[in-house]
Amino acid sequence: MNKKIREILNKKNKTKIVSLTAYSKNVANILDKHCDIVLVGDSMANVLYDHKNTHMITLNNIIQHTMSVKGGIKNSLLVVDMPKGTYKNTKIAKKNAKLVMKLTKCDAIKIESNNKNFKIIRELIREKIPVMGHIGYTPQFKKKFKIEGASQKEANKLLKEARMIEKAGAFSIVLECIAPNTAKLITKNLKIPTIGIGSSVYCDGQILVTDDMLGLSGFYPKFVKRFASLNSEIEKAVKKYRNKVKLKKFPAKQNFLNGK
Ligand code: KIV
Repeated sequence: MNKKIREILNKKNKTKIVSLTAYSKNVANILDKHCDIVLVGDSMANVLYDHKNTHMITLNNIIQHTMSVKGGIKNSLLVVDMPKGTYKNTKIAKKNAKLVMKLTKCDAIKIESNNKNFKIIRELIREKIPVMGHIGYTPQFKKKFKIEGASQKEANKLLKEARMIEKAGAFSIVLECIAPNTAKLITKNLKIPTIGIGSSVYCDGQILVTDDMLGLSGFYPKFVKRFASLNSEIEKAVKKYRNKVKLKKFPAKQNFLNGK
């Protein structure tokens, strides 16, 4: 087993797992110093490409951005989201996941569960491709956003799904927008770590979309805490630059290449 994956597994019940998303090298370079897992998420659809959902992101998009992110990663576990349609059966999943692993040198891939694709996970793992699962609100398969696992019946269904993913061999599972008590139940009943987004503090780790938590994306649902307001920081810098250019104060003498 990949050493970094063993380290993630060992954190369960000891210390929380810290994860964020990245789509480019410069951001990845900063995250790498502080995150256990960096995910190249198909959330790039909304964040970078202004798509309404994640469905149009291609394998090429994901591979290009992961190649950039990889340039900034030394320590974190690098996980890559498989886009919608790229793992619709075992044969297609194997071909695409192998290509992603080969071209990007990432550590693992993530696939969203449709409560049926357990065999695909099992087959990928048989090919030595580590897999992270994803349950709850799964944007590739669910049309409408809702809190998942709010009733006892839904909680039991999600627990069963999580167990199947663990049994198939996944090394961890993202729990997206799952009711706190259900996230707690799943986390308690699995040996592999759960990584929550909008799923309470009971998960073994947390993930957020970096552009959201930095205040860059404009998408701030209740579960996103804004840890910075980079939008206004960037705007301040751009305004300063504009004023200097207009007033002919930039470039100043010290910015001239030959000093004259
Ligand atoms: O695409 C993504 O960024 C994700 C996270 C929200 C878990 O899947």
